[in-house]
Amino acid sequence: MLAPRLGPCEITPAMSDITALVLSAGLGKRMKSSLPKVLHRAAGRPLVLYPVQAALEAGASAVVCVVSPDVKERVAEALAEELPGAPVSVAVQEVARGTGDAVKAGIGAVSTERVMILCGDTPLVRADDVRALVSALEAAPPAELVLMSALLEDPSGYGRVLRDPSGRVLEVREQKDLRSAEERGVHEVNAGVYVARTEALRAALGRITSDNAAGEYYLTDAVALASKGGGALAIPGHADNLLGVNDRAQLAQAETLLFQRIARAHQLAGATIKGDARIDAGVEIGPDAVIEPGVALRGRSKVGAGASIDVGCVITDSEIGERAQLKPYSVVSRSRIGPGAQIGPFAHLRPDSQVDEDAHVGNFVETKKTRPRKGAKANHLAYLGDGDIGEKANVGAGTIFCNYDGFQKHLTVIGPGAFIGSDSQIVAPVRVGKDAYVATGTTVTKDVPDEALAIARVAQENKEGYAPRLKARLAAAAARKKQGG
Ligand code: UD1
Ligand code: CA
Repeated sequence: MLAPRLGPCEITPAMSDITALVLSAGLGKRMKSSLPKVLHRAAGRPLVLYPVQAALEAGASAVVCVVSPDVKERVAEALAEELPGAPVSVAVQEVARGTGDAVKAGIGAVSTERVMILCGDTPLVRADDVRALVSALEAAPPAELVLMSALLEDPSGYGRVLRDPSGRVLEVREQKDLRSAEERGVHEVNAGVYVARTEALRAALGRITSDNAAGEYYLTDAVALASKGGGALAIPGHADNLLGVNDRAQLAQAETLLFQRIARAHQLAGATIKGDARIDAGVEIGPDAVIEPGVALRGRSKVGAGASIDVGCVITDSEIGERAQLKPYSVVSRSRIGPGAQIGPFAHLRPDSQVDEDAHVGNFVETKKTRPRKGAKANHLAYLGDGDIGEKANVGAGTIFCNYDGFQKHLTVIGPGAFIGSDSQIVAPVRVGKDAYVATGTTVTKDVPDEALAIARVAQENKEGYAPRLKARLAAAAARKKQGG
């Protein structure tokens, strides 16, 4: 189950006649970053992915991202990684001369009759809203351009939608170009999302000038041209969907809203999500799973039905089986946990760990590239690197798989049903046989045959009555020292 509208699998069958342009070539200066703005991540995904997905889900048959020349490769790579095989490409706007110029740079790649336009820095845009614009373009009254608007209590910074007394859209005027108190009092703003007839838009682009306060080619001028020509409409969308990310404060705000939206989608699909759990876009969660506060589910993680993930766990790119229990503050990266397995509290499963069904990895146990098989247990304080632990084997507290000789990593194999006594060191490469027994405190350096006992420690010697004699000797020494000053 994917968070609706956020997972790659949710794409609806594309209509054959609409291409989307996602404008992403702005300079993004306010981010004060060496990373291109649209590659900053929110809820685990690059910003640009969200509008691209919204466009695909709204029915775009192809998406063209308009980017600046220096980030072309990086954006293309990020999109290919996130949406393998999707009809997504990039076009270059050589110089950021405004949104109208950005559309000009992308429209050459458009061969469909209609075009959608979205912004790369508005990750909260919803496919439903874009779909509503597409429907409006087809409905009466006829229009050649439909834009999404929103009513904001504080409209500052946005272009305002100006209408005539009958409510007909006349134009969008940018903040800097507002001319009267009346215009400044308009609360309906342009969300920066449009659907238009390609030929009409192409013609309008040829007529846009940079004669405005910013000296830029405004795409919004196409609204006034449409209004005078084939008609312009503004369809109100939800105000919290238009947030544009221009700086890192807005990035944080957008991410918080995304996390809330994702949590809600999982809740509606039957998972319990509590408090401030942060679930990345694209994470899958089965029904009746319980995610406690302070949990972070990152990357491409999957949580099976009925699993419980307790407070403070951080799960990255991992699969958690059905009914598995992760106790508080466990960290799991690039690993798989089988059905009914129990992990933590305070366990650390590093990459390529695989915990099979009903196995236990308890507190302060670290694993790496290790597979505790079905029903195996390592309940306390251990380092288990590069290991294969047989079914129902028991690894005692303080056990260390000495997997590294300073040059190479080596494998430890523990047979099914074997018992490793506490505080043992297993020096790899080595094999402990089926049902074998390793005595507490043993350093295993040689293979242990099936059913054998391995013991390697100094034999204990008891000296009868020694303790009082020792005590008296120590007391006398202390007294001599005191007298002598
Ligand atoms: C724009 C709209 C404004 C609207 C607001 C909504 C114009 C002129 N103004 O303003 O009416 O209320 O969005 O968020 O369109 N971009 C390019 N190339 C450029 C310039 C921008 O690709 O040369 C891209 C940016 O990367 C960004 C998007 O276009 O993703 C919007 O540009 P931005 O400069 O953020 O426009 P706003 O001032 O926010
Ligand atoms: Ca913006």
